[in-house]
Amino acid sequence: MNKPHTYPLSMRVVHWLMAALVLSLLFAGLTMVKSLGPWQQQLLAWHKVMGVIALLAIVIRLIIRLRSETPKLPDTVPKMQQLAAKLTQFGFYVLLFVMPLSGYLMQNAAGRPLSLFGLPLPTLLNTDLALYGLFREMHGWAALLLVLLIVVHILAALYHGLIQRDGVFRSMVRK
Ligand code: HEM
Repeated sequence: MNKPHTYPLSMRVVHWLMAALVLSLLFAGLTMVKSLGPWQQQLLAWHKVMGVIALLAIVIRLIIRLRSETPKLPDTVPKMQQLAAKLTQFGFYVLLFVMPLSGYLMQNAAGRPLSLFGLPLPTLLNTDLALYGLFREMHGWAALLLVLLIVVHILAALYHGLIQRDGVFRSMVRK
């Protein structure tokens, strides 16, 4: 069967919703640890709720991805770039699991119970300050890697959309 030229609607919708969610989580995360203003606690509470939603969203995204027929890169894209694109996609999936999971486990290990819209969420770890430190470090380093990957991804998307005009950018935008 021929490969489609564009991503299915479900994947395009989840891609752009998650892009907005993750960028705002990164922005909130970096802002709230830089300041001790009175709004910090409120932003942190919002960050945790949206972070748990991001965890659910990445599970849904992976399921949709595994069940979808996705477009192949054009043959004009050099093999090294095709490999880089595959590694970037893989890196995104890994980091989009590591980010919310490390945040979740960090809170468990700190002994701070989590809830989502009043519904208590399961505690997966006992309170352990050493583990808290480990997941806190992991959360910070994964955020840094995620920012680097996002910059590379945006530059590659702009290169395809504005310079190569080979349909790669369009495949995630419209039918
Ligand atoms: C995709 C999801 C997430 C992203 C992109 C994200 C991003 C970030 C970033 C960039 C920081 C600042 C890190 C630093 O400067 O070292 C941060 C801090 C934090 N995040 Fe997340 N986060 C996510 C999910 C979560 C979740 C699910 C939780 C908990 C339920 C959480 C809890 C926290 C907490 C408590 C901090 C502050 C840590 C501290 O300063 O002690 N995050 N996050």
